[in-house]
Amino acid sequence: MAATETPSNSNDPLSNLEEWEDFLKVRYPEETAASSKPFQATDPNKAKEQFRNYEADARPSVREFYRLNHRHQTYDFVQAKKKEFLSLSRRRMGIWEAMEFLNTLVDDSDPDTDLSQLEHLLQTAEQIRRDGHPRWFILTGLIHDLGKILCLYGEPQWAVVGDTFPVGCAYSDKIVFHQFFADNPDSREPKYQTRTGIYSEGCGLENVHLSWGHDEYLYHVVKGYLPPKALYMIRYHSFYPAHREGEYQHLMNGRDKEMFEWVRAFNPYDLYTKGHERPNVEQLRSFYNELISEYFPTELRW
Ligand SMILES: [Fe+2]
Repeated sequence: MAATETPSNSNDPLSNLEEWEDFLKVRYPEETAASSKPFQATDPNKAKEQFRNYEADARPSVREFYRLNHRHQTYDFVQAKKKEFLSLSRRRMGIWEAMEFLNTLVDDSDPDTDLSQLEHLLQTAEQIRRDGHPRWFILTGLIHDLGKILCLYGEPQWAVVGDTFPVGCAYSDKIVFHQFFADNPDSREPKYQTRTGIYSEGCGLENVHLSWGHDEYLYHVVKGYLPPKALYMIRYHSFYPAHREGEYQHLMNGRDKEMFEWVRAFNPYDLYTKGHERPNVEQLRSFYNELISEYFPTELRW
C-alpha cells in the first residue's frame, strides 16, 4: 500500500467494511483461535512485539479508522446513540428483507471478485451448518452482522464497526491502537479512568456500556426472539478485548464468563469463513427462510 494513499472520505476512511475485518485476521490469525485456550499468550514479550507490528503494518485507512473510533467513542456518545437508535422506530422489516437492505450498502468493493454482504452472511451460516451445529447457531451466523445497516442510516464507519470496548472505565492496553485514546475526552475524566470506573467489580456486562456499533444495535432488534447463547454471540462478537484478549473479566459475572465460551465458539466463523467461493443465494433461500420463520415474526422493528 502506497504511503501517499489518502482516504477518500475523512469520516469514512475504509474503502469498505471488510478492511477492518481483514486487519483483525492479521491480528488474530486462525491458528491462535483455539477456543479451549482463548487468551493464553505463549510468550508475553513476543505477543507484545507482534502487537506493535500489526499496528505498524496496518493500512493508513485502517489506522485512521481506529483513530476516529478511539477519539469519538465517549461515554456520552454511546448514551446519545442508544437514545437515537434503540427506540427501534426507523423501519419494519423481516430478516431476509434486512439482508437485502444491507446488501444495498455501496462501498469500494469490487463486485466481480468481492462477495456481497448477503453472501458473506450466507457463507458464515453455511460453515456453521456444515459443522453440524444447532439451528439457532446457524441462524445466528446468518444474521450476526445485520446491525451494519447503521451505515445505511448515514452513520460513520467508526460508529458501526471496530473492536468494541467498555466506556466509563479505564481502557485496556490490549485494545489495538491504544495510544489513540489519548485524544478521547474521557481520558481526562478521572471518574472514567479507574479500573472499574463507573461500574463495580463483577457487576455483569448487562450493566456495562460498550462502544457503540452494529453488535449492540442488532442485539436490541432480536433480543426477544433468540436463546441467550445466540444473544451473547450477537452482542459481543466484536468485543475482541474480552473474547480474544481475556480483558475486562472484573466486570463480568459468572453468567457472562460461562456465556463467553459461546462468543469464543462463534468467533472463528465470524472471522475465518469469509472466502471467495460464492454461495448460491437462490438455492439456499428456502432453507434459510424456513429457519428464519422458526424464530422470527415476519416483521421486526429496526
Ligand atoms: Fe460483525
